[in-house]
Amino acid sequence: MNLKTEFIKYFVLKGHVEIPSAPLIPENDPTVLFNTAGMQPLIPYLLGEPHPKGKRLVDAQKCVRLTDLDSIGDKTHHTFFEMLGNWSLGDYFKKESIEYSFEFLTKVLNIPIERLAVTVFAGDKDIPRDEVSFNIWLNLGIPKERIAYLGVDDNFWIAGDSGPCGGDTEIFYFRSDDEIPKTFDPTDERWVEIWNNVFMEFYKDEDGKISVLSQKNVDTGMGLERVVAVLEKVDDNYKSSIWKEIIKAIESISGKTYDGNEEAMRIIADHIRTSVFISADPAGIKPSNTDQGYILRRLIRRAIRHAKKLGINTNEDWMRSIALEVIKKYENDYKEIKENKEVVLEVLKKENEKFSHTLEKGLKEFDKMLANIDGGLIDKDSAFRLYDTYGFPIELTLELALEHDLKVDVEGFQEKFRQHQELSRTASKGKFKGGLMGHSEIETKYHTATHLLNAALKVVVGLDVHQKGSNINEERMRFDFSCDHKLTEEEKKAVEDLVNKWIKEDLPVSMKTMSKEEAVKEGAEAMFMEKYADMVNVYEIKDISKEVCGGPHVTHTNVLGHFKIIKEEASSAGVRRIKAILE
Ligand code: SER
Repeated sequence: MNLKTEFIKYFVLKGHVEIPSAPLIPENDPTVLFNTAGMQPLIPYLLGEPHPKGKRLVDAQKCVRLTDLDSIGDKTHHTFFEMLGNWSLGDYFKKESIEYSFEFLTKVLNIPIERLAVTVFAGDKDIPRDEVSFNIWLNLGIPKERIAYLGVDDNFWIAGDSGPCGGDTEIFYFRSDDEIPKTFDPTDERWVEIWNNVFMEFYKDEDGKISVLSQKNVDTGMGLERVVAVLEKVDDNYKSSIWKEIIKAIESISGKTYDGNEEAMRIIADHIRTSVFISADPAGIKPSNTDQGYILRRLIRRAIRHAKKLGINTNEDWMRSIALEVIKKYENDYKEIKENKEVVLEVLKKENEKFSHTLEKGLKEFDKMLANIDGGLIDKDSAFRLYDTYGFPIELTLELALEHDLKVDVEGFQEKFRQHQELSRTASKGKFKGGLMGHSEIETKYHTATHLLNAALKVVVGLDVHQKGSNINEERMRFDFSCDHKLTEEEKKAVEDLVNKWIKEDLPVSMKTMSKEEAVKEGAEAMFMEKYADMVNVYEIKDISKEVCGGPHVTHTNVLGHFKIIKEEASSAGVRRIKAILE
């Protein structure tokens, strides 16, 4: 039985449309590094925007959660995982949602009802307790001793601090050969959570204020690897069929068995799988010292250290055979894995080459430091030397320190790190100082060109064109917009001409800070107004465009040069993508 296939099949039968997983790295949300839940790419639709595929959706979404990074090495945690989910976007609510889950678990997966228990939301001062869900479970045959009311900390779900949210009901499975206790105790670890059904009917803003959404949604999430382990009756996720071949490849390259080397092998397996997915993502992430690139670097370097612990010769391209198993496992489900296979293998190989020999030297340096340690603390200069000279991510130094019962002056390290960054930033040409830090001159130009392109598309294609996302780097700009057809050559030419005309007219670009309400009143465009803080910056290009935007922008359009579209293609259903350059 393949859980993923069965899950999708079941919900399709119940009128849901299967949608592909969104990329691991959010395309249009710079506030998060990775998708951490199936609902994340669906936020606009949970807030009321109609989804092109309808109101009932099902998928397996690729996720990465970093909160548990330190726990990797135990039986149950993973950084990357697939989350199975079904959604109602303003369609069915609690009754159908709970009935579907119950039927799927007991009829499709054949889980005996005695092994199931649930929690429901106990309510708080604003929201009443969820007796509706309680009674639905009771009617389905879950005895009341197996239904526990829990409060906000356990049974109210939100991604981060603000956004769509609501009370939830969580389903637990008794994973043990012990006799099943009559009364469900959610703190008893033999009960493992297998599914979470969130009833998203509220919106929480940045100030923590809760309002009612225009539609009632259902968002469910089932962690694939955990439930596969449950179904296969293994008490260690890494012993399930998902990991079998990957662990075998690690056993083979290390010449050691999983038994007795679990921690290092789990870390290697988990980190290489996540690194494969991050580097295969269309965002084109490479190991670096910032954002997703830094996470990728950290994961690969930590895997290298644990490989060394296992006695693997890290001077060779040892990750290849393991990565190939990961690729084999996922390439049919995720086309980017197949298409970017060579890129992935190259990323791993290069990062290994870069780090494996400095790791050895760094470990020697660390041993020397141990001899001179003062007060059980690795001081900031030592931590910074390990980072700067030997490429140790600070987290690696922390892990090493912990193994020797030592502490690290992390704050001091960070201070040194910032000073060092300032120095190298001032040294690198073409970078602005102050507020525009991190944006080169050309990127700033692309920001302004994006607003011109958005405005030109409205003139040429129609007023129902809306921005769906954008991404800028030193080489080009990328712009996603709603549009139901491939642009014709004439349309593309007209858009280019119009943008170039506006550039030549040397229009002034101005910025005003105002409240969100004022911005809306002034007719400023914004992709997700709900997501912004109360005060926003509105950039206006005289008579042409008015948009809420974080900037930075040029002050006059004639510095932009010549605008040229290099590609126009489909991005997703009803969304087109333009790549353009300034010459
Ligand atoms: N958003 C919920 C979760 O991540 C259910 O999908 O658990």
